[in-house]
Amino acid sequence: MQTELIKINNNAFSEKELKKAVKILRNNEIIIFPTETVYGIGANAFNKKAVQKIFKAKNRPVDNPLIIHISNTKQLKKIVLKLPIKAKILMKEFWPGPLTIILKKSKNIPLNVTAGLDSVAVRMPSNKIALKLIEMCQFPIAAPSANISGKPSSTKGAHAFDDFNGKVKLIIDSGECEHGIESTVISLIGKPLLLRPGAITKEDIEKIIGKIIVPKNNNNKKPISPGLKYKHYSPEAKVFLCLNQKNFELEIQKNFEKHVGIISFSKKIGVKNEYFFNKNISDYAKNVFSCFREFDKKKVELIIMEGVKKKGLGLALMNRIEKASTKII
Ligand code: TXA
Ligand code: MG
Repeated sequence: MQTELIKINNNAFSEKELKKAVKILRNNEIIIFPTETVYGIGANAFNKKAVQKIFKAKNRPVDNPLIIHISNTKQLKKIVLKLPIKAKILMKEFWPGPLTIILKKSKNIPLNVTAGLDSVAVRMPSNKIALKLIEMCQFPIAAPSANISGKPSSTKGAHAFDDFNGKVKLIIDSGECEHGIESTVISLIGKPLLLRPGAITKEDIEKIIGKIIVPKNNNNKKPISPGLKYKHYSPEAKVFLCLNQKNFELEIQKNFEKHVGIISFSKKIGVKNEYFFNKNISDYAKNVFSCFREFDKKKVELIIMEGVKKKGLGLALMNRIEKASTKII
């Protein structure tokens, strides 16, 4: 399959530029498109066969459900059974934006979208291209992150091209994603549960609806969110996550002979290795996946990273880094 990469400016584009993408989606094929978090690989959420193509292209386990992306809350009627008051409040506050809400599923949604669960994940992205695309299709788009399963998410069109060249017909490239880290996933089926920390912080959500529970990372057979049990975000290189500056500097010294990639946060360290410095946490979150991919291209043996405090956006960032880590010191 020939993959076409079209560049579209998120701040200045016309509907005409999206027509090809809409046509492909209407033909129950898949495409890659930008969102404000990471790139998504999407299909008509109501079409089982189209959705199946996403799992195949990503090599995604069939028991890991997808997020449905909408452009208008009217679309919820065909997706969820009921809308609890807390869901309405959060939607009003954070949509369009990087918050995914899990609710009871309606029968219209094919079972492969939700991996057989009776719940469904839904979000309204704020990225203008994504919103317009869904609106023009006139159906919601089911889309996981556009990366081969287990690999870092794509935060640039070029990352998606590296993973899916020859596997999808079209990639819409609008450059770098605004957040660079995926949406926050919260379940509102019973008591509010934070299933994945993300671009909208736990603190921000709690300000609106009160306490939310963070389930313990359980490794049993039936996790609350299937995605939690899989290996994620991993670069080819080993990743050492250092929880304090002393360990960070020590690890750099110990691995002096190796070809090392370093991602630092608190201060610039003058070393001859591949090196990436982040000014603040949002910068770190925005760059982390891109950094992993760049270091892999440079064939570094080892990535040594500095951790951050697990609060605010730091909670989501540490969740991603911990999952990518081979060693935490
Ligand atoms: O920012 C994002 O959320 C991006 C963009 C493309 O929207 N998408 C994304 O999708 O990160 P994905 O598939 O990589 O992650 C979705 C997560 C997975 O951990 C999945 O297990 C969980 O949401 N999930 C989806 N449906 C669920 C459900 N019904 N119950 C529990 N967890 C669910
Ligand atoms: Mg993903």
